[in-house]
Amino acid sequence: MDLKTIEALPKAELHLHIEGSLEPEMMFGLAERNGIALPYASTQEIHKAYEFTNLQSFLDLYYAGAGVLQTSQDFYDLTWAYLKRCKEDHVVHTEIFFDPQTHTERGVAFETVIEGIHTALADGKEKLSISSHLILCFLRHLPEKSALKTLDEALPYKEYFIGIGLDSSEAGFPPEMFERVFAKARKADLIPVAHAGEEGPPEYIHQALDLLKVARIDHGVRAVEDKALMERLIRERMPLTVCPFSNVKLKVFESLSDHNILEMLNQDVCVTVNSDDPAYFGGYINANFKGLAQELSMTLEQAKKLAKNSFEASFLSEAQKRKWMEML
Ligand code: ADE
Ligand code: ZN
Repeated sequence: MDLKTIEALPKAELHLHIEGSLEPEMMFGLAERNGIALPYASTQEIHKAYEFTNLQSFLDLYYAGAGVLQTSQDFYDLTWAYLKRCKEDHVVHTEIFFDPQTHTERGVAFETVIEGIHTALADGKEKLSISSHLILCFLRHLPEKSALKTLDEALPYKEYFIGIGLDSSEAGFPPEMFERVFAKARKADLIPVAHAGEEGPPEYIHQALDLLKVARIDHGVRAVEDKALMERLIRERMPLTVCPFSNVKLKVFESLSDHNILEMLNQDVCVTVNSDDPAYFGGYINANFKGLAQELSMTLEQAKKLAKNSFEASFLSEAQKRKWMEML
């Protein structure tokens, strides 16, 4: 096992919620800066609270934590801290999710959120040579009407983001509920992606493909329960942005050694490795790669294939994809 070589591979990260990169230390700092009381006495107490039983038990803390984000500077600092971690982990390109409704619902303006994130991403390109795209996620536990309002608010800032996604509580909120907002976004030339098959059944993956017409599936690990779906994903080279640490923390798999990512890789599914919400799930992208090497005996060849897939599955230009893939 050649961990150092694996860690040094150039990679793209395609499934990262910027609000999920809010480390307890920064949460404390921003709470103080903004005069917000936290229900924790110390960062250790926060770490201790991060024991989840399922997706919802995580989301409850994640949305509460995001309450410390108030100003454009806060969103800038959050994004900049993540980009610095990218540099350490040899992430050369990242496609970042943000959840505007988490902030607009509590009175923070859409512009405040996107300006802060965008400015940090522009600095990341200039000062750290990390390219990026931004993807606006709709919260599926809120009605489609709220997503439509959010899209209308976002369209004047269209040059700042490349696509739209769908996240939050999955079970009981099938993709079909968001068909119209996705159609409207596609008409505006935004690239659609969606979380599906994390906790939800394979049927949700079918709906994301057929009704939302997504270019990637986020998570998608439950696809293995449906043979015809697996054949389709392989045939269409439909990427899955898989998040191993997240799946273990949220009890989708009991342990990393039970994870199906390498099984899917070996079947030629275009799977990629991602950190999802690294501040909550115990590590950034290289920690996930390292975990796969240690717990699933991932080889260097498999790691290279995963890194290659990350560029293939990205929304970079064909020339940029080729440039990175040729290095692997
Ligand atoms: N929002 C942040 N992380 C998420 C996840 N793993 N699933 C659904 N929504 C999310
Ligand atoms: Zn996610």
